[in-house]
Amino acid sequence: MWSEAMPVRLLAVAGSLRSGSTNSALIDAASAVAPDGIAVTIFEGIGGLPFYNPDDDVEPLPASVIHWRAAVNAADGLLVSCPEYARGIPGVFKNALDWLVGNLDGSTKPAALWSGSPRAVASQEQLRVVMATLSAGVVEVGCLTLPLLGRAWTAEELIADAGMRDGMVAALRSFAAAIG
Ligand SMILES: Cc1cc2nc3c(=O)[nH]c(=O)nc-3n(C[C@H](O)[C@H](O)[C@H](O)COP(=O)(O)O)c2cc1C
Repeated sequence: MWSEAMPVRLLAVAGSLRSGSTNSALIDAASAVAPDGIAVTIFEGIGGLPFYNPDDDVEPLPASVIHWRAAVNAADGLLVSCPEYARGIPGVFKNALDWLVGNLDGSTKPAALWSGSPRAVASQEQLRVVMATLSAGVVEVGCLTLPLLGRAWTAEELIADAGMRDGMVAALRSFAAAIG
């Protein structure tokens, strides 16, 4: 059972490389508002992963891959905020997930899916399928979709907005309670 005395470790990853990414802002804001007992570590290296090729999935692995797999395996759960590109998962994020196939540490890696777009239904559905395939099932009570389209929200603005902040804190608490 989750408690503040036994922190839940979340690895937070944005599925966008864009400098002004709303999904990255969501991840940054989540890290800042996480209540005591929830430790959020942000992973920023998915853009540095090579294109997945099974031929390259052999020792010695690139440092970026070792770092990514270790970060995921050290976490109790994954917090993913991902946009939709062309009615699907952005390639850069799917590539990062492909590097995890068969390489989780044997424990389940529950995931909470966040999004800044209520329109991104297709990518969210696809992520659910992919996460289940990776033994990283989605925890619905931890999922959050916020209406951020049409404005370039920063993390600071998300934190300052009481409704946004309360939504993020509630989702983090529910996710931690479900997996802790
Ligand atoms: C190449 C590209 C394709 C996109 N395709 C879709 C799409 O199919 N459906 C959708 O709802 N939004 C689509 N969008 C809009 C993005 O999902 C939206 O701008 C999102 O906020 C981008 O995330 P970010 O702010 O974290 O970079 C697309 C944007 C780009 C750049």
